[in-house]
Amino acid sequence: MRESVAFSLNVPTPEDMRRLGAALGSALASGAPGVRLVGIEGDLGAGKTVFVSGVLAALGVAGSVRSPTYTLVEPYECPARTLYHLDLYRLADPQEVEALGVRDLMSGDAVLLVEWPERAGGALPPADLAVRITYMGDGDAGRVVGIEGRGPAGRDLAAALADAVKAQ
Ligand SMILES: Nc1ncnc2c1ncn2[C@@H]1O[C@H](COP(=O)(O)OP(=O)(O)OP(=O)(O)O)[C@@H](O)[C@H]1O
Ligand SMILES: [Mg+2]
Repeated sequence: MRESVAFSLNVPTPEDMRRLGAALGSALASGAPGVRLVGIEGDLGAGKTVFVSGVLAALGVAGSVRSPTYTLVEPYECPARTLYHLDLYRLADPQEVEALGVRDLMSGDAVLLVEWPERAGGALPPADLAVRITYMGDGDAGRVVGIEGRGPAGRDLAAALADAVKAQ
C-alpha cells in the first residue's frame, strides 16, 4: 500500500480557501475517526486561519475565528466533534507543547488543527493530514495548497477530500 495519499490544487481566492476548509470540516464531521492531527503550514498571511475558519464553519461555528496567537490553543466543542485550534507561531520552546497538555487533548476523538506545527519540533506526533499553503507568484493573488494524508486514517481522509474537491 502507498505510504501517503497526496494531491495539490490551486486556490485563487479566500472564499475558495474557506470552501476547501469546509470540505475538510464536513469530512471530519461525518467520519475520519482515527484522525487526530491536521498540520497547516505556510508563511505569514498564507491563509492558514482562513482555512481553519472554513473547517469550523462546516462544524457549525459561525463568525470569524479568533487566532489563538497568545493563548496558543482555542477549543471548539461542536456537536459532531471537538476541535482544538492551535497557533504555535509564538511558541518559545517545543517543551511548551507538553505544558499545553496536547497529549490529553489528543486522547479522545478530538481533532487538533495546528498552525505552525513545525515550531513544535518533535513535541507533536506527525500529522495525519498535512496541509501546505504556498503563495502563487507575486502579490496577493492565489495560493497552491498541497494535501498529504499519512497512515491509514490520514490516507482515507485525503482520498475523501480529493473526491469532495473534484465534486465542488
Ligand atoms: N487564495 C487565498 N487564500 C487564502 N487567503 C487569501 C487568498 N488570497 C488572499 N488571501 C488573504 O490572505 C490573508 C490570509 O490571512 P490568514 O490570517 O488566514 O493567514 P495565516 O496563514 O493564518 O497567517 P499567520 O501565520 O499570521 O497566522 C487574508 O487576509 C486573506 O483575505
Ligand atoms: Mg493564522
